[in-house]
Amino acid sequence: MGEEGIEPSRQLGHTILSRARLPIPTLAHDFSLILSLIWDKINLVMARVFSVCNQKGGVGKTTTTINLAAYLATLGKKSLIVDFDPQGNATSGLGITPHTLQYSVYHSFLGDVPFDVSVRKTEIPHLDILPANSDLAGALVELIDVGDREFLLRRLLSRVRHQYAYVFIDLPPSLSLLTLNGLVASDEVLIPIQTEYYSLQGLGELLRTITLINTNLKTNLKIGGALLTMYNRREVLSREVAKEVRRHFPHRVFNTVIPRSVSLAESPSFKKPIILHNRSSQGARAYESLAREIIADEQNKPQAHNFVAW
Ligand SMILES: Nc1ncnc2c1ncn2[C@@H]1O[C@H](COP(=O)(O)OP(=O)(O)OP(=O)(O)O)[C@@H](O)[C@H]1O
Ligand SMILES: [Mg+2]
Repeated sequence: MGEEGIEPSRQLGHTILSRARLPIPTLAHDFSLILSLIWDKINLVMARVFSVCNQKGGVGKTTTTINLAAYLATLGKKSLIVDFDPQGNATSGLGITPHTLQYSVYHSFLGDVPFDVSVRKTEIPHLDILPANSDLAGALVELIDVGDREFLLRRLLSRVRHQYAYVFIDLPPSLSLLTLNGLVASDEVLIPIQTEYYSLQGLGELLRTITLINTNLKTNLKIGGALLTMYNRREVLSREVAKEVRRHFPHRVFNTVIPRSVSLAESPSFKKPIILHNRSSQGARAYESLAREIIADEQNKPQAHNFVAW
């Protein structure tokens, strides 16, 4: 793969996030942002809020969200997963059946019920989840006429983030209003990149989206890092793609690489994070190592790289 391998995909041009359609900052936006910043200051101990984002499907966003958060919680860091994908994969992967939920992230996102009503504990101590199901897809339509709709998740999390050390928002494979809400609510973006051909396509668009958000919505979203996933060290292609990502991605790439692992692939069918399914597997050890890498970074701040246009 040459330099052109990292050229962004032009396929997703007409998204809600395109320059023409991003809302111009308004007084309401500014006011909302100021309110959430004041709230952030009041709460001295704040979670680091990560969006786990890549508009490409099936690259390991949900697997990373579940297992990274599970290991951080196990290492004593109280963590929250926000399932912000109508597929509800993070929800079912943690043993909750999405369609039986009375209340989900959808209800708290729209302000119908408080966070405390929709949040759920998981089998892992110190790990909570704000679960999702297909109701969330309806929010896209319901919010069409709502002003300030990019800030709803940020506002919801700003009221509760002081309760956690880490928050991970599992985003859908699209650049939709849900994704926009997730990014605006985050401090950092964690980008899983599957080590396969074409895996870098679309990254340019994601990075440009982040620039647009920071410029137009006056946020300070940073790139927390790219994470290589489904790596097979016996495959030349995996090794080549990993090398290309490290050479060309203009931001931090985590030292930890997530291998392709049968245990990781089967753990959703057991509805358990890998730590409860097969903690001695290579996949489990990799996510534990990623959790330790993130905690270690905290001691060497600043860990998130300021955004540089790509
Ligand atoms: N390291 C891995 N080794 C083997 N299989 C994996 C690994 N990571 C994820 N998978 C499997 O690949 C599939 C896609 O993973 P996952 O659901 O985490 O991706 P995603 O990016 O969240 O997908 P979507 O875009 O649909 O939300 C799942 O079946 C998952 O179990
Ligand atoms: Mg997913």
